[in-house]
Amino acid sequence: MMSRKIYIFDTTLRDGEQAPGIHLSVKEKLEIAHQLENLNVDIIEAGFPISSASDFESVKEVSANVKSRGVAALARAVEKDIDVAGEALRGAFQPVIHTFISSSDIHLKHQFKKTRDQALEMAAKAVNRAKKYTDIIEFSAMDATRSDREFLCRLLQTAIEHGAKIINVPDTVGYAIPGEFSSLVEYIAQNVKGIEDVIISVHCHDDLGLAVANSIMAVQKGASQIECAVNGIGERAGNASLEEIVMIIDTRKKELGVYTDIKTEEIMRTSSLVRYLTGYLVPPNKAIVGKNAFIHEAGIHQDGMLKERSTYEIIKPEHIGVHSSKLVLGKHSGRHAFAKRLEELGLKLQKDDLEKAFDRFKALADKKGQINDKDLKAIVEDEIREVAEHFKLDFYQVVSGTNVKATATIGMEIEGKMRQSAACGDGPVDASFKAIDAVTGLHTQLVEYNIEAVSEGKDAIGSVRIMVISDGKEVMGSGISTDIIEASIKAYVDAMNRIMENS
Ligand code: KIV
Ligand code: ZN
Repeated sequence: MMSRKIYIFDTTLRDGEQAPGIHLSVKEKLEIAHQLENLNVDIIEAGFPISSASDFESVKEVSANVKSRGVAALARAVEKDIDVAGEALRGAFQPVIHTFISSSDIHLKHQFKKTRDQALEMAAKAVNRAKKYTDIIEFSAMDATRSDREFLCRLLQTAIEHGAKIINVPDTVGYAIPGEFSSLVEYIAQNVKGIEDVIISVHCHDDLGLAVANSIMAVQKGASQIECAVNGIGERAGNASLEEIVMIIDTRKKELGVYTDIKTEEIMRTSSLVRYLTGYLVPPNKAIVGKNAFIHEAGIHQDGMLKERSTYEIIKPEHIGVHSSKLVLGKHSGRHAFAKRLEELGLKLQKDDLEKAFDRFKALADKKGQINDKDLKAIVEDEIREVAEHFKLDFYQVVSGTNVKATATIGMEIEGKMRQSAACGDGPVDASFKAIDAVTGLHTQLVEYNIEAVSEGKDAIGSVRIMVISDGKEVMGSGISTDIIEASIKAYVDAMNRIMENS
């Protein structure tokens, strides 16, 4: 039997970015989009242009810069949304308008206050309108898994009759179980007129931990596109995880009879970039990209691995781009060696960022001596993170110790003026954050604080990730330094700048 291609529709920058606390700047979204291009996904959903100016700008920038993949923009089934999406996609290599309306009575009645007939009419109009901008129109029936099957099929058929080329079946609330979801996809494949001429897509959420299983089951009943997000990020419990979907298909391609065009060697790099820029940590035991995914602890497993890797290893780490770290650079290494090692690691930086990263590398090498690949990756990822610096840290000074009240003084540049303030606290981090609150005048609630070492050794770089609540919204911040107080301060200032960017 001929193997069938499964299209990978990546929604990291749209549904993924809807996860609480994630606020990516346009530049950060562009970095991720470039890496998704390297990963070779088929379609990059870059945002929901009507929802905010920055989403519009992100879709526009991704459309202007991604020249080998499809770029999708989300739009409700209303003309204004579609016009704004079409405008943002102008210039895209392969523009895709992704329009949606709910098909379930629960949504239509309680949320949209629409009848089924009105939904049919809106779907028809939306697809017709989208034709002004592109030939590739995707139509989603939101909450498909809790919809009346017969009405769902009528809605999908209407979208096809008006020109939709991709028909998406979302399990919006992550409610479906595998047998039920695959039977729904099979029912659609058998009962919607014209379905054989379009792509059936699925979009599963992970509320019951079944997003990946449901997506794979759907493939076996005729779905040819899977919507997923790197590291499984997304609304609530997230979307189906891209790396899991891709590696299930790659590892079991013979049995499934399908393949993807994903360059699996780029998986780890993509996961790491998304993890760093979004601030969403990856659990150590996460399938494929967790840091323990390839570590064999039990004696009997280690024994087997030493004799023959296939005893306990179903995926070679190199296949997803995991390479053992080497000690490579030191304080005598020059610009050329630095740039070359970054290139070998697949880390690409624009010229200005490369210069800044090199300066940071030199400063770190002066403190630490030897710099390994994990340190380099942390420096580069930190350089890529970019949000407008409304608050610019100038200096900090902290006093803390046994039987001393911790005190911090923070100096910052705000709109060209130097400001400073001091505060006492319950430890050096608390004191610093209070001093920052006094300088910035922003009052937030700290709800999460995480710290980890990016590599081994007592002199390792510390990476701090925090989440604060400001005006009811969660905002993340992160920072790195070999000094963990400095890393904490940087993370807090980063969050403050993200609040300003989104206010
Ligand atoms: O989960 C969902 O239903 C969505 C749609 C917009 C496709 O994200
Ligand atoms: Zn979704």
